[in-house]
Amino acid sequence: MRDVLPPDSARRRALVARFASAMELAGYAEVVVPILEELGVFERMGEATDVVTKEMYDFTDRDGRQVALRPELTAGVVRAFVQHRPQLPWKVWCGGTNFRHERPQKGRYRMFDQVGVETLGVDDPDLDVEVVALAWQFLANVGLQQVTLLVNSLGDHDDRSRYSEAVRAHFEAHRDALSEAALVTLDRNPLRLLDSKRPADAEVIANAPRLVDHRSDEANEHYERVLGGLRSVGVPYVEAPLLVRGLDYYRRTTFELASGSLDAAQNALGGGGRYDGLSEDLGGPPTDGIGFALGVDRVLLACDAEDAFPAPDNSVVAFVVDLVGGGAARDITHELRAVGLAADRRFGGGSMKSQMKSADRSGAAFAILVGEDEMAANEVTLRPLRGHDGPGGEQRRVPRNSLVEELQRLAPSMGTAQIAHETDGNG
Ligand code: HAM
Repeated sequence: MRDVLPPDSARRRALVARFASAMELAGYAEVVVPILEELGVFERMGEATDVVTKEMYDFTDRDGRQVALRPELTAGVVRAFVQHRPQLPWKVWCGGTNFRHERPQKGRYRMFDQVGVETLGVDDPDLDVEVVALAWQFLANVGLQQVTLLVNSLGDHDDRSRYSEAVRAHFEAHRDALSEAALVTLDRNPLRLLDSKRPADAEVIANAPRLVDHRSDEANEHYERVLGGLRSVGVPYVEAPLLVRGLDYYRRTTFELASGSLDAAQNALGGGGRYDGLSEDLGGPPTDGIGFALGVDRVLLACDAEDAFPAPDNSVVAFVVDLVGGGAARDITHELRAVGLAADRRFGGGSMKSQMKSADRSGAAFAILVGEDEMAANEVTLRPLRGHDGPGGEQRRVPRNSLVEELQRLAPSMGTAQIAHETDGNG
């Protein structure tokens, strides 16, 4: 499990805020679903899904009920859809923490965050285009340039089953040439072998039956229209006929966003696809569905690698340096915060020099100095700090009762914390 400390925490929050605004601009409203659900909700995702069979944090609660920490968001969102039956189409975005008992390594954690969208009740291939384009555009807007969009279609339910059998037969016939690990996967989910990255299995995989030969005409037509739509809106894609994805519920369109700046084993920034049967599997009416999720942790790792999306500047506007005893610092910080000006101070006093060091470290635009002199004159000294001390930014004395007004006049033009807090930074 992981802790997120400052300043990473602010950057993560800014990323989620950016995602929220982008999705809301496209008509998606937020849905919040539980972190803990009945185990059955996740089991519907399929017995062949590793995430369900091998990686779930499931346990019996005090009432003897089988429950699990969510390994992803889709199953819970579709369960909520089935339970509340909102009007169709239902377009929602969702974010939060998930748990998978994986082998932790850089970019792969047991506790990780996702943001994503789900849409229920629309069969139109243009919706697939919308959903894929939203994921793509978001990563581009965040500043990531080394992203490849991989697209595939798994065909309809029956296509997928027939293809799965054909693939199983092929791999069974070549058992001798497969690695130990591949044989284990073969028994549980032959399709999953197709996107195995083990070099030992590459040759058998290369000769496997092709998905395109097993897709129905309808599925092919849907797929062609999705690809045509992506070309039309200018989202570049690479067809990936072996892209199967790890969750069992996918039908027809599937896609993944791979980063060129992360290690190949953990390079998926996100993925998604259609899950047209999931509502029924969860006891609801037959309803088409499609969505995606992005891994927040991985998107931020890719941002590190590409020098994109810096942490927002959440530093305060004013840092009070109180040389008289602390009472002025208490009162002034309170007064500034009350009108929405970001302010901080140091506790425990200290020399002018050490307090000024704290002021500098805080990133504040101004130090507000209160010494014996200022106290006596009912004034404060306003000292612009590094980066704010250019022309016109000289140190000066200000009457104590016009400090707020003076800072309000100066702060908005400086792009400092007060504004950053309101917009969650990063413009
Ligand atoms: P997923 O491919 O399992 O899909 O996860 C989506 C993204 O979450 C991955 O591409 C990755 O960035 C991130 N992720 C997954 N596992 C981990 C982990 N252990 N540590 C860090 N990041 C991780 C889904 O979860 C589907 N529910 C997506 C979807 C939504 N399909 C339709 N709607």
